[in-house]
Amino acid sequence: MASIINLLRHRWKHFRFQPRAALARYHLAMIDFTTGLGNSAWLLYGLTRSLKPATCVEIGSATGCSACHIGLAQRENVAGRLFAIDPHTATDWNDPGSVDTLALLQHNLRRCGVDRYVDVVCATSEQEERDWTRPIDLIFIDGDHSYDGVKHDGNLFSRHLAPFGVAVFHDTTWELHAAARTDIGVPRFLDELRRAGHP
Ligand SMILES: C[S@@+](CC[C@H](N)C(=O)[O-])C[C@H]1O[C@@H](n2cnc3c(N)ncnc32)[C@H](O)[C@@H]1O
Repeated sequence: MASIINLLRHRWKHFRFQPRAALARYHLAMIDFTTGLGNSAWLLYGLTRSLKPATCVEIGSATGCSACHIGLAQRENVAGRLFAIDPHTATDWNDPGSVDTLALLQHNLRRCGVDRYVDVVCATSEQEERDWTRPIDLIFIDGDHSYDGVKHDGNLFSRHLAPFGVAVFHDTTWELHAAARTDIGVPRFLDELRRAGHP
């Protein structure tokens, strides 16, 4: 008897969950994020679903493509918190036409129904790190892409990574592109991390 009740409970949870999850994905698909992240955002979704991180951080939110994908996974996990750090002012690394993105980010998070899981932090990574105390389970670094910028962010936040924490960087393969962008220093920094023995 108990196993039948458990089975029905499980089915009911699944049944209730499906239409809401489908609606959130529909909203996600309808948003034009004006970002270069593309389908790589689903990698963040998959990692979050798989690792079930309690604390996630992203550096560089813009209009929220990465934040909505991580938030959607957290919503489906029914656990976890994302701290989405971005000053939402003009930097060298805004997506074209996207400078003051705060209102749009908040709107998009609400539209996908994930705002409960995401703390919008309107600051630079450096400002936010000063008072940071939580161990980080998953960090996505997509802010200042210059060599000095990404190295600064990597070094600042790696000291907060939990023992099995995972760090993900965006724009790591620009040296493979025909029109290589020399202003992007992420490949060089990652190469240094690999040489230093980081997995
Ligand atoms: C390429 S966009 C991020 C795209 C975003 N992850 C997405 O999924 O659409 C880079 C963002 O980094 C932010 N940024 C630049 N320097 C930063 C810093 N020092 N700290 C935090 N964010 C920064 C910019 O404001 C910009 O919104």
